[in-house]
Amino acid sequence: MTIPPDAQDIAHFRALIAIHLGLQIDDAYQDLLARLLRTRSALCGSVTRYFDRFADEAWLQSELPLLARELTVTETYFFRNTDQFAAFSALVLPRVLAARGTGCRILSAGCASGEEPYSLAIAAREGFPEDSDLVEITAVDINPIALGKAAQGRYSNWSLRDTPKSIKDKWFTTDGSDYVLDAGVRRAVRFTAGNLAREDRTFWQPSRFDVVFCRNVLMYFCPEQAREAIDRITRVLTPGGYLFLGHAETLRGLSNDYQLCHTHGTFYYRRKAERSDATIADERSEVLRRDASAMSNDTSWVDVIRRASERISTLTRDSRVPGLPERTEAVPLDLTSALECVRGERYGEALRHIADLPREHANDADVLLLKAVSLSHSGALEQAESVCRELLARDGLNTGAQYVLAVCREAVGDVSGAVEHDQAACYLDPGFAMPRLHLGLLARRQGDSVAAVRELSQAAHLLQREDPSRVLLFGGGFKREALVAMCRAHCDAMGVQV
Ligand SMILES: C[S@@+](CC[C@H](N)C(=O)[O-])C[C@H]1O[C@@H](n2cnc3c(N)ncnc32)[C@H](O)[C@@H]1O
Repeated sequence: MTIPPDAQDIAHFRALIAIHLGLQIDDAYQDLLARLLRTRSALCGSVTRYFDRFADEAWLQSELPLLARELTVTETYFFRNTDQFAAFSALVLPRVLAARGTGCRILSAGCASGEEPYSLAIAAREGFPEDSDLVEITAVDINPIALGKAAQGRYSNWSLRDTPKSIKDKWFTTDGSDYVLDAGVRRAVRFTAGNLAREDRTFWQPSRFDVVFCRNVLMYFCPEQAREAIDRITRVLTPGGYLFLGHAETLRGLSNDYQLCHTHGTFYYRRKAERSDATIADERSEVLRRDASAMSNDTSWVDVIRRASERISTLTRDSRVPGLPERTEAVPLDLTSALECVRGERYGEALRHIADLPREHANDADVLLLKAVSLSHSGALEQAESVCRELLARDGLNTGAQYVLAVCREAVGDVSGAVEHDQAACYLDPGFAMPRLHLGLLARRQGDSVAAVRELSQAAHLLQREDPSRVLLFGGGFKREALVAMCRAHCDAMGVQV
């Protein structure tokens, strides 16, 4: 009789999977984990002996792919999120070729059964038909079954569901119900087994690639493992190189080494040249933001800021951040007075307090954001925009700057610019309520009631849990309840109750 693994064993197994494969397996898959642990540990004689083997590197090399075979989601298809391939071939590839003067080196990380890297090879050939050796694609995945399928280059019609007929006709031949990929396209991609969750210095070498596609992989990772995987990707990506993530994934909270870019209706990232002082300042501001959101909705913002500022000064005093100039004496950042003015809608006075802050804090991300908000409310739109752009140059993933830019753009009549910045803020932080509210109001003004109701009802929902500091900073003087009521009133007026 086999003894089922107990809850503690399953929890330990889940932790090992997180560490070694990066995967966050949720509670719904408890039975699958139990079954897998039972079959895998049976070969070692006991669960304890099986767990002990995880310390053996050589054994892990063969065990992890077997676990990945059962635990990974390998759903993919050719030209998935077509807009990203359009951005790649119309903009990214020509830029890389112009900059390097030679071929473009691409990594498809988490390539599954090959549809993504092969789509890149086809897109390159379509864009530059005269040069078939233009791209050199490395495709890596942990799942051996998916890699085996990729090597065959043989697909069902379902894998080509988003592929235009002209591309199908040109790059595939049919064999019964299968589509067989052109041999030249297949030769353009080198498949290799690899694990994004583990260090491997021979693979993750600096500046090996100009472009990385890592789509719909990190969404299955634990936050810490996702951060480490992005660190590896950043290492192999040349400075100024391009990174594409899946539509539901963002780098926010994972890395400060990138700028957000937008073209052809899609978002992607560009690696910054170096880790700058601004990046370090933003890391401190991230600490501030996290502290603020960890507190309850009823905590006063001033209190939040005071505690977070204290924590930041402790951090900078106790541990030197690499790259930050050495300080003889840390001057704590105190935004209390400026924030009190924002709370009381005295924006001119807030700006005077900001101007009086110690010079070393003048370019802190949170100071710049407060300044941009105060300037925009004072009607100094051009200056507000310029502060936002300065902030985005330092932290391309700053959602607050994107939102303030959206408000400024709208004020000068540039609705499409406003929508673009709101969408960037929503993409970077799907929990940010204000850009949704703004998008809803813009849509209503444009007469698009379907989009207006969708955005406003989403905003009403998000506002209930919105960070108090963001309600204060971006709420335009309205309290949380008033903003929710505003969303509901607009939806009511369009005949929908939310
Ligand atoms: C949903 S597919 C994405 C395929 C393709 N990138 C796309 O967007 O269509 C996710 C792939 O990531 C792979 N994967 C998951 N964890 C991995 C890891 N630790 N190392 C390498 N690949 C991994 C899975 O095996 C799977 O093939």
